[in-house]
Amino acid sequence: MNYHLKKMMNGGSRNERCILVTGGAGYIGSHTTLQLLLEGYKVVVVDSLDNSEEEAVRRVVELAGSKNGLNLYFYKIDICKKDDLERCFQLFRFDAVIHFAGLKAVGESVAKPLHYYFNNLVGTINLFELMANYGCKKLVFSSSATVYGQPASVPCTEDFPVEVLNPYGRTKLFIEEITRDLQKADSDWRIILLRYFNPVGAHPSGRIGEDPRGVPNNLMPYVQQVAVGRRTELTVFGNDYNTKDGTGVRDFIHVQDLATGHSAALQKLFNCSDIGCTAYNLGTGRGTSVLEMVAAFERACGKKIPLRIADRRPGDASEVYAATEKAERELGWKAQNGIDEMCRDQWNWASKNPWGYRHAHSDRPDNEQAFTERVSHVVRGQAVTT
Ligand code: NAD
Ligand code: WQD
Repeated sequence: MNYHLKKMMNGGSRNERCILVTGGAGYIGSHTTLQLLLEGYKVVVVDSLDNSEEEAVRRVVELAGSKNGLNLYFYKIDICKKDDLERCFQLFRFDAVIHFAGLKAVGESVAKPLHYYFNNLVGTINLFELMANYGCKKLVFSSSATVYGQPASVPCTEDFPVEVLNPYGRTKLFIEEITRDLQKADSDWRIILLRYFNPVGAHPSGRIGEDPRGVPNNLMPYVQQVAVGRRTELTVFGNDYNTKDGTGVRDFIHVQDLATGHSAALQKLFNCSDIGCTAYNLGTGRGTSVLEMVAAFERACGKKIPLRIADRRPGDASEVYAATEKAERELGWKAQNGIDEMCRDQWNWASKNPWGYRHAHSDRPDNEQAFTERVSHVVRGQAVTT
């Protein structure tokens, strides 16, 4: 077994809360990890780096600063390998888990359903079994607005019927159902399902952001790649919907707001003994059309985004946005950013990192060598290579 642990630093008091973040090197996971570090949590990230780069973790440490950065520990682990994951449970006592790890490309899930079912479901079951065995029964799970399918009306409230249209969506729905069964069987579990709408934007520093591999599936990463010259034009999937300008309408939410939403959910888990298994939407409650979003990005980057109108994309809903009252009322959380802030921050990230993290090695900060020395020192100290 090539068990690769990087304990980023070894500070932090024994009394602070320790959170396991699966998929913490990914887009939403990296922003949330940073938020948790800044709030003083100790964070253990496990990620297979299947759809992310270790550079993202390095930058999270850098942004967290010399004190809070001491509290991040990173393991390159595939959670489908239960023995590897168990090593983490042996090394740390987790107070709660935020479970982001999973594959998320809808089209790929249609082409490779078994790959999606295996990765997303087996990894999750391994995680839940270990949580139960090691007595950590507080969970925040990354669900998705995809569980609303093509909603009959908007805004979507959490009690809408669930309907999924592809294998990816079914993995989210199956995991939601598993958590409901788990909590029913053992009332010690406290579980929050966060249904994200359409995450966009980046950390305002421009150091971390979304970096999809291959052709982007989602609107804003595609727009971003047109703006930096990696792609020639955006294809708009349909302008004949019954919406304000005929293009699809979505609830875009700044990734920084998602990060604070996870922090609010954790607080709820710690403070509310009868949370049971509860779903919350994380959205802004506002619907923005594809063309409105493109126009906002054009304002942010000062460039024209060439586009071509094409047929509708199969499976797309015309209009989806969140009812936000439940999260506001029960989590005390509300999204703060509008589409201009989302596009401003996404462009800041894109213009500084036009090729994402992968061409980033030349722009590491001057203290990189010192950082690497600290990391290797701690890795030796931990002696977890087997
Ligand atoms: P992401 O791909 O950037 O992050 C997911 C991370 O999980 C990646 O770093 C990947 O390497 C890791 N991972 C995947 N399988 C793993 C495994 N078996 N073991 C360990 N790590 C593994 O995606 P994201 O946008 O940050 O999404 C995070 C979560 O939120 C996912 O579960 C996704 O389905 C969900 N979600 C995302 C969106 C969205 O539009 N971005 C919307 C709703 C829900
Ligand atoms: C938004 C709008 C497209 C790309 C997906 C998943 C969902 C969730 C979020 C994970 C639609 C249009 C897009 C393009 C376009 N992810 N579009 N040209 O489909 O709302 O949700 O991501 O859980 O599960 O399904 O997001 O960004 O793909 O599309 O015109 O190149 O942009 O038709 O109207 P979607 P999206």
